[in-house]
Amino acid sequence: MNTQVSFSHRGQPFNHRRYQRFAAINKQDRLWPNQQIEQAPLWCSVDLRDGNQALIEPMNVEQKQHMWQLLLDLGFKHIEVGFPAASQPDFDFVRWLIEANQIPEDVTIQVLVQARDELIERTFEALAGARRAIVHVYNSTSPVQRQRVFGLDQQGIIDIARQGAAKVKSEAQRYPATEWTFQYSPESFSTTEVEFAVEVCNAVIDVWQPSAEHKAIINLPATVEACTPNAFADLVEWFCDHVQQRDSLVISIHTHNDRGCAVAAAEMALLAGADRIEGTLLGNGERTGNMDIVTMAMNLYSQGIDPQLDLSRPDDIIATVESCTRIKTHPRHPWVGELVYTAFSGSHQDAIRKCLAQQDDDEPWDVAYLPIDPKDLGRSYQSVIRVNSQSGKGGAAYLLEQQLGIELPRWLQVELATPVQQLAERHQGELEVEQVLALFRQHFMPRDGRFHLAGYQVDRQGNQHHLQASVSDDNDMLLVHGQGSGAISAFADAIHKATGIDIQVLQFDEQATEHGSDAAAIAMVQVSVRGQRACGVARDRDTLAASLQAILRAVNLAVAAPALSRAG
Ligand code: KIV
Ligand code: ZN
Repeated sequence: MNTQVSFSHRGQPFNHRRYQRFAAINKQDRLWPNQQIEQAPLWCSVDLRDGNQALIEPMNVEQKQHMWQLLLDLGFKHIEVGFPAASQPDFDFVRWLIEANQIPEDVTIQVLVQARDELIERTFEALAGARRAIVHVYNSTSPVQRQRVFGLDQQGIIDIARQGAAKVKSEAQRYPATEWTFQYSPESFSTTEVEFAVEVCNAVIDVWQPSAEHKAIINLPATVEACTPNAFADLVEWFCDHVQQRDSLVISIHTHNDRGCAVAAAEMALLAGADRIEGTLLGNGERTGNMDIVTMAMNLYSQGIDPQLDLSRPDDIIATVESCTRIKTHPRHPWVGELVYTAFSGSHQDAIRKCLAQQDDDEPWDVAYLPIDPKDLGRSYQSVIRVNSQSGKGGAAYLLEQQLGIELPRWLQVELATPVQQLAERHQGELEVEQVLALFRQHFMPRDGRFHLAGYQVDRQGNQHHLQASVSDDNDMLLVHGQGSGAISAFADAIHKATGIDIQVLQFDEQATEHGSDAAAIAMVQVSVRGQRACGVARDRDTLAASLQAILRAVNLAVAAPALSRAG
């Protein structure tokens, strides 16, 4: 063996040569790459078993009951509820489900048991009185388990499986009132020689003699994920093509996430012929976790496929899973994380804003950077766009649009971008919408300042506007007169005549706004005064009053000292 160390860190060898490449099967006739997923699989939640077994602190009775209720609410029809022969709390929980009549008519509970006679007997005791149940029996089949853990050859492993299957069958006959389904897992299927996996499963099928009317479930686990999802799909397709009585079987998949590909492997396994998927909510489970059913179901949903689970309230899922597992959900968790519908980048925000403005309710969803409508998951657009120092002008503009009901013209977005970025950099983080709003008011709508509009009157004669206005100039009240081709230019003329201040209006926009009971219009202007450029914004029921006040605010900012900062 080559023991050359390729990299060394604090004395620890970091040597890839210690590891072997996965021995993928040589399958040239694969059909799965040409398939499409057309419908949701039959889901089986293993939160209360595999998920629970992986917890530092396994769930208590109350937590299990909460998880059970959540799984029912989401619409699971197969739920693995525990390993009753190995755990008294699991046994008691199964008894509670049955005795307290907690299992809806259309839901089937499943329990796990090793292929050992005494454990199988105890499992059936736990299930006594159930209307319907799946008994899930397993034994390990991979070379490392055979050779290093059990010290058995292939025949020894087949014998365990066959004997376990026989025991399950004979025990079931002792409880004829229950409608039984049998499930077998060749544990560590993906690292077992696939021919041998078929041989073991065939031995079990021989014992159970399933039929198309009364199928057995064969569950193929990637107990430890060891290969790329395409190699796993090859195994599943090969298995489906070679196992006996395929029509009498439900092929189930149970992937773990050691390589981070559990969802991809399960999806490709569906393409390769599987019917059923086992997994957990948000991927809790041993080591890196089980296949995340929420992610996979949302993947289907986002492709226009009914996931057959109600995932419309992910925050309820997260709350229950977190309280049962005491494991936090990553803010970037696919589909449901707190940050996954939030764009910080300015160009993304801009694109989202434009697409949302054009998206009609009755047309297919087509919004850049948002693979689904966040509203489907109870997330609001308010949280879609958030502002930090990377955001540029689009994000702040979007927030103001949401809060004030106005669309900032591009020139004003540009003016706002710098103070937003400076504040975000000072904060070294995200800005709250209130902070953006305060910044906007402080920079463009300051109440302080030299000039204020007290009243005005305007007359139009032909193309000429004659405007008279009362303007407070610090402690004085000025009566100003001016004329121009429009009311704005007449006002600029009036100010100039009264004060000598020459106002050039560079930009002007006004919009009707529904926000606020006393605000019917908002005016936004950019002026240049003595070479100093400034922007002012004002709201008023009267459109022209809003425009004149906006001009005065801009003038105040242009002529005044930086003390003009009290927000209004
Ligand atoms: O991961 C696994 O192999 C299992 C089996 C018991 C199905 O959980
Ligand atoms: Zn597992």
